[in-house]
Amino acid sequence: MRTGYRTHTCGALRAADQGQRVALCGWVHSLRDQGGVLFVDLRDRYGLTQVTFRGDADGPLLAQAQRLRPEWVVRVEGTVVPRPPEARNPRLPTGDIEVGAGALEVLSEARTPPFPIDERAEVGAEVRLRHRYLDLRRPGLTRTLEARARVVGMIRRGLEAQGFLEFETPTLIRSTPEGARDYLVPSRVHPRTCYALPQSPQLFKQLLMVGGQDRYYQVARCYRDEDLRADRQPEFTQVDVEASFVTEADVLGILEPVVADLLEAFRGHRPALPLRRLSYAEALERYGSDKPDLRNPLELVELGPAAGALGLGLFDAALAAGGRVKGLCVPGGARLARKEIDALEQEARALGAGGLAWVRRGPDGLAGPLARHLGTAPGGRLAAAAGLGEGDLLLVLAGPAGLVFRVLGALRQRLGRRLGLVDEAADAPLWVTGFPLVLFNAEEGRFEAAHHPFTAPSAADLPVLLQHHREPGSVPAERLAAMTAQAYDFVLNGEEAAGGSIRIHRQDVQEAVFHLLGLDPVQVEQRFGWFVEALRYGTPPHGGFAIGLDRLVMCLLGGAGIQDVIAFPKTLAATDLMCRAPAEVDARQLADLHMAWLPEAPRPAPGAGAPAAFADDGGPHAAP
Ligand code: AMO
Repeated sequence: MRTGYRTHTCGALRAADQGQRVALCGWVHSLRDQGGVLFVDLRDRYGLTQVTFRGDADGPLLAQAQRLRPEWVVRVEGTVVPRPPEARNPRLPTGDIEVGAGALEVLSEARTPPFPIDERAEVGAEVRLRHRYLDLRRPGLTRTLEARARVVGMIRRGLEAQGFLEFETPTLIRSTPEGARDYLVPSRVHPRTCYALPQSPQLFKQLLMVGGQDRYYQVARCYRDEDLRADRQPEFTQVDVEASFVTEADVLGILEPVVADLLEAFRGHRPALPLRRLSYAEALERYGSDKPDLRNPLELVELGPAAGALGLGLFDAALAAGGRVKGLCVPGGARLARKEIDALEQEARALGAGGLAWVRRGPDGLAGPLARHLGTAPGGRLAAAAGLGEGDLLLVLAGPAGLVFRVLGALRQRLGRRLGLVDEAADAPLWVTGFPLVLFNAEEGRFEAAHHPFTAPSAADLPVLLQHHREPGSVPAERLAAMTAQAYDFVLNGEEAAGGSIRIHRQDVQEAVFHLLGLDPVQVEQRFGWFVEALRYGTPPHGGFAIGLDRLVMCLLGGAGIQDVIAFPKTLAATDLMCRAPAEVDARQLADLHMAWLPEAPRPAPGAGAPAAFADDGGPHAAP
């Protein structure tokens, strides 16, 4: 990477370059003054090169170099010389050589950084984020960002090889109140109106299909004002994809070769294609999650009939209320200390369960709250149904289906890790298909779209949907709730790395979905009129997906957090500690936007909802 400043980067020189006159530029990583010889490790994105300044050859140059401090930016001219054998560093690609300096130019001085640029330094997350540009100099973060760029490049090439073209869609759009909260941008020109930042390019990519563009993709920034978690950022990146005249199988087939290339490049093994497909219903029944980590061998077991025969009030009540009784049998789990089992129960309670029944079969027989019920013949049948063997622990939960899946799914993950059952070096990519079309919102007493309102029902359930539209009340609510959609998620090692659906292209089907969602034509017109109108002008069958790029990179790198794979991430309190956003703005700016703040509402305690690492980041810097 020769430029007007340098002939080589700090990672380039090898023994074969011996004797060359070179010019290097970089940051002073470290200095070792050995009386008469000064060793300077010079660092840039590409690596480290040792530069030596010798007093015997050039006293003034050594004196100049002795002024250097860590993180100064310098340009060095010199000659590549082999290091003496005892000074070679096999851990460094440039470790066989050093550059004997002949000239030094300080390009810029640096203040003492607030933390050393060193992988091993123990530095708090907050100070790193505040000075992210310094943290970016660390090789670990540099490698992560390089990997991210390679992932994007491979995805682009993989999609372009399949005829996809990248188009940009707008980021100042109309608010569509569905899904998460929008980030709003007030208009100066049109008083009392706002643009919204897109939660995804969903509607625009569908309109590109209406516009005949056939195969689109975009590396798109998305914005969602929602409660943040370890794998969520308020602004994140999707690789958004849409294609026309495609079936669900076609769409899955578009992503699969791209994923296979990525897994091969980053994880070292190429998965067999087509990838495994698991229905949503089966994923919940067997793993208690719609994004199961299939590297974990633990599975939920059905205990409803066996539990019903025990005559225990707790189980009977759950079953009578239409709930479920399921178990998680943990081979070798009997060795868990009582304290650990109590912690499992606490986690179950934290997730909403009233309690957790359990029994373990140790060398001394059965123990635990369920033990005395398993001595009977029905109890024996329950133990057999659960597959409870010597040395095992059985957890049993009764309650509404959703709760039972959620809690046992979480315990399955926790125990899989705790007992070392998950092979972190392996990969378990899969598709979860057949998501529900709608979910019942009990609070509001209405159905909501499970994915979004433009997702097509499965072919098998289309007649049910149309029947409900033709004759409201003729289809029982349970049957409507059981309808599945042509919607799918790509799951990698327990993370939802991508999701998508086949969209509705028929007017009558779209109307039936709006009707099911309780939207009358006036509401439809208000919310989505501009979009629905477009669908009336000849819409091709179409579908697509969006990869959560940040999450995918996290999975491919294994062990990275979402903040590690984003150059300038936000905290869990949605703040940017470096540029201190959000921030107050001038009264003048507000006036231009025809805005004034309401009186300040009581603010949550600083850091509420954020983990301890960010607890004192001061929260938002303004009081919106
Ligand atoms: P969905 O909402 O499932 O689908 O988003 C697609 C993928 O984006 C990632 N993702 C996120 N990543 C980081 N932070 C977040 N806050 C966040 N939210 C979502 C996930 C997810 O799988 N328009 C549809 C896609 C389609 O139907 O084509 C959509 O946005 O990895």
